[in-house]
Amino acid sequence: MKLGFIGAGEMGGAIIKGLLKSGWAKEDIRASVHSPEFAQRVAQEQGISVGTDNRQTALWADIVVIAVKPGVVPHVLPEIASAGKKPVICMALGWTVEKLQAALPGWPVIRIMPNTPLALREGVTLFAFGKQVSAEVRQTAEGIFKRLGKTLELPENLFAAGTAVSGSGPAFVYAFIDALAQAGVGQGLSYNQALELSLQTVVGAAKMVEEEKISPAELAQKVATPGGCTAAGMEVLQTTGLETALEKTIAATVAKAQEFAGK
Ligand SMILES: NC(=O)c1ccc[n+]([C@@H]2O[C@H](COP(=O)([O-])OP(=O)(O)OC[C@H]3O[C@@H](n4cnc5c(N)ncnc54)[C@H](OP(=O)(O)O)[C@@H]3O)[C@@H](O)[C@H]2O)c1
Repeated sequence: MKLGFIGAGEMGGAIIKGLLKSGWAKEDIRASVHSPEFAQRVAQEQGISVGTDNRQTALWADIVVIAVKPGVVPHVLPEIASAGKKPVICMALGWTVEKLQAALPGWPVIRIMPNTPLALREGVTLFAFGKQVSAEVRQTAEGIFKRLGKTLELPENLFAAGTAVSGSGPAFVYAFIDALAQAGVGQGLSYNQALELSLQTVVGAAKMVEEEKISPAELAQKVATPGGCTAAGMEVLQTTGLETALEKTIAATVAKAQEFAGK
């Protein structure tokens, strides 16, 4: 299965990295980007063939993966269209199945929302499928991203919400890891010490949520013994409004995602 990436920046590059880690053959991935200098850099870093001719990439590929910024999509679609009908997977924010289908009438189009941990095969990819997508293509597309983490099909009216939680989510989690570390620095730890503690705590706690069959709220209760120091901290966390901060963060992200989708 030959995958042709149109764009190989942060997100496209992360997917390529994850696929290569998963054992996908280098010869079966190609990319085209905008600048020849960047093409050379990606080719060197990833060890794949990278050019600047989108039509050539699309002609060569069995499946085309669009990984350019949303505003660039209208420029690359005619180049892809000129290569002939084949499945197209697009990850650009706001590019709904309806918009893709209008630009490529009769083509099998798939909308996805990945996240950058796909590079480590610990990602999440959200899916929405166009009507022309056969069961076989659907299975193939999901199979590609299942190699890189979890996948979830969502109705398009929930795509913005999913985008906020998992697509943008890594940024919010990085901010949390940093804030926890900075708070430790405020109490005398060095930043390096505090970051190591914060990071490993987030990794360990995430694994506990994954493996223990109880809710995060119940797990928090198990750490926060009544009258103890964690309980004292949790009370402040609740009254100063972590939940409100995240509600507002996600709502602002959803609003922007909907704006991109033209809703
Ligand atoms: N970053 C994320 O965490 C994330 C998460 C989910 C979804 N996405 C989506 O992924 C898409 C890409 O985002 P990104 O963060 O990866 O952006 P990025 O780092 O800016 O990468 C964009 C890529 O597109 C290439 N490009 C620009 N114009 C092109 C053209 N005419 N033909 C072919 N390639 C062209 C760029 O090449 P040059 O460098 O040579 O200009 C670069 O390789 C966006 O639509 C975004 O909504 C991103």
